[in-house]
Amino acid sequence: MNIVDSRKQDILLDVRNLKNYYPIKGQLFGQSSRSIKAVDDISFTIRRGETLGLVGESGCGKSTTGKSILRLNQPTAGKIFLDGKDITHLTGYELRRVRKDLQMVFQDPFATLNPKHMVGDIIAEPIRNYETKNKQKLKKQVLQLLERVGLPKDAYYKYAHEFSGGQRQRIGIARALALKPKLIVADEPVSALDVSVQSQILNLLKLLQEEDQLTYLFIAHDLSVVKHMSHRIGVMYLGNIVEMADSASVYSNPLHPYTQALLSAIPEPDPRKRKDRIEIKGDIPSPSNPPPGCPFHPRCHHAMFQCSLTKPKLQAIKPGQLVACHLYDNGGRG
Ligand SMILES: Nc1ncnc2c1ncn2[C@@H]1O[C@H](COP(=O)(O)OP(=O)(O)OP(=O)(O)O)[C@@H](O)[C@H]1O
Ligand code: SF4
Ligand SMILES: [Mg+2]
Repeated sequence: MNIVDSRKQDILLDVRNLKNYYPIKGQLFGQSSRSIKAVDDISFTIRRGETLGLVGESGCGKSTTGKSILRLNQPTAGKIFLDGKDITHLTGYELRRVRKDLQMVFQDPFATLNPKHMVGDIIAEPIRNYETKNKQKLKKQVLQLLERVGLPKDAYYKYAHEFSGGQRQRIGIARALALKPKLIVADEPVSALDVSVQSQILNLLKLLQEEDQLTYLFIAHDLSVVKHMSHRIGVMYLGNIVEMADSASVYSNPLHPYTQALLSAIPEPDPRKRKDRIEIKGDIPSPSNPPPGCPFHPRCHHAMFQCSLTKPKLQAIKPGQLVACHLYDNGGRG
């Protein structure tokens, strides 16, 4: 898709053939230089106002994808377009300008909230860096942000340790919202919270999205968390996207054997709807030495001879449902 097409479809983020490898440290002289292929050639788009959920087991490359997009990591290969502009290699002033449009909500906000600063100053910091140093204007904007995320005004003068986990996440969200970003990458924003608080934070993120037409890349381990948040879902395995579809299709008709196994692991309270759990054999291989062919083949119950030889391409099997699996090489007709 070229840039003109992207604009027509109101595509905000366009990620093409992104790779992000980490060097393996401590290799001896003369050893072939290997790397950890944390993200290994993925492509996807996110429309303005849309939430794309990214799920998969620990270590499959979700956070690395988020960090590459935010340009916290330099991609090894591929391109990232934001609003039609190639941001992959921006540096200096241009990178600083684009960082304003890209914000992150972290799993553990406490780790990123400076314990020595008042909450008001923490939220004001990005505004002070980018927009105004005027104290009155800053305070007004911070008080508005506190109200939007459901925190009382007096939170301004308190410190992060005086708040519960859910409230701290509200502070993290207020800070992420401060510069009216185009895209928010939310990396497991509720995994560290009590279940009772999780839905409050998810509802807040949804409400803010409706108010401001926010766009989210929403990262989670758990398919049940992304279900209620996402318009579309991408399933990652070992640095690859193996299935990408609208939320309803992923839940009602998952096509990739890995997605099917992930879904079968979600506890179903209604015994009439309960299906047999599909066990995934063995452990996830190391991304420094991924298997040849389909990355899932050593663990897949449907693996065929071809699966260990050629890597399946992510292709449309149904309108809006993309799958990377040889079972569907002839459109799923065998
Ligand atoms: N800074 C780094 N240096 C070297 N290897 C890294 C680094 N960050 C991540 N990795 C490795 O890259 C792979 C992908 O990690 P990543 O954190 O992106 O996965 P994830 O899907 O976010 O996992 P989790 O669900 O546990 O957060 C893993 O094998 C991880 O060990
Ligand atoms: S390509 Fe083969 S190994 Fe990979 S998921 Fe499909 S059937 Fe399983
Ligand atoms: Mg992660």
